[in-house]
Amino acid sequence: DTPASGSSHAKIILIGEHSVVYHQPAIALPLPAVRESVTIARREDGIQQLISRYYTGARQAGPSQLAGINQLIDDLLVRFNVPNIGFDLTINSHLPAERGMGSSAATAVAIIRALYRFLNQPLSHEQLLADANISEKIIHGNPSGIDVATASATNPIWFITGTQPISIPFHLHGYLVVADTGVHGQTGLAVKAVASLREREPQVAETAIKGLGQLTYAAKSALANDHLTELGTIFDRAQHFLKQLGVSHPRLDEMITVANRNGALGAKLTGGGMGGCMICLAPDEATATQIRLALANQGVTQSWVQPLKSEENKS
Ligand code: PMV
Repeated sequence: DTPASGSSHAKIILIGEHSVVYHQPAIALPLPAVRESVTIARREDGIQQLISRYYTGARQAGPSQLAGINQLIDDLLVRFNVPNIGFDLTINSHLPAERGMGSSAATAVAIIRALYRFLNQPLSHEQLLADANISEKIIHGNPSGIDVATASATNPIWFITGTQPISIPFHLHGYLVVADTGVHGQTGLAVKAVASLREREPQVAETAIKGLGQLTYAAKSALANDHLTELGTIFDRAQHFLKQLGVSHPRLDEMITVANRNGALGAKLTGGGMGGCMICLAPDEATATQIRLALANQGVTQSWVQPLKSEENKS
């Protein structure tokens, strides 16, 4: 038997992090350049084994970080009446964890796609989103759904909390560089820091949150109309507001300066901040390469480049 496989990709928040918590929109972008794949091969001995970079061994005996994945697999095997079927499930991920790139959602989406194929079951998009929520709930408590929607999408996602994510048009000719600070993101802490700033200095916080909301609407229009330079300016202005909210990090600030000095059209943090990743816009591939090299010279060990052309953006 040939093994069944499924894949997915990373997500990043293009703009709208933090303000999205206060009912403003956000835009998330699928990053097919940063992939995750899962293969499942049948075993006749009934053993269910997991093979991943963090853990290899019996699925049920894995560390607590695997609780979400295990619940997801349990639910699906029971649903399809094969709770004791044997297999090797291999997770191949290029996504770093805890960088706001949606690694748990990407893993869930890849596992679900592989498992439905392994069991010869049809899978609708709605079912994929619903199933991924099983593990995301265990890992994140009350997930907004943006990570799963983006891990399974080919277009950017327009997202307002409490509403269905919407796929938005996308005609941009440029490159996005994503660079890892190497510092674990602190989304929970950063969300609390913004909430506390809102209590202490409501005016400062509200101005930044509203400003980020307006910039997100402007970014949507820049994305649809191929206004790359304008989107770069929007990135810089968003970063200014995010700094006012107190969620940047000295390492992020340094990397943003390096990117802008090396030809970026604009740069900002992405996701929760206080670590995690930086994103910037490059007008062409040569500039994207130059930015990545300059960042590597400053000690950045991981960066990725994603063309923003929609036709190259297939999953
Ligand atoms: O770090 P990420 O990619 O999970 O993004 C967090 C986004 C926030 O707006 C900061 C928090 C949230 O729950 O929306």
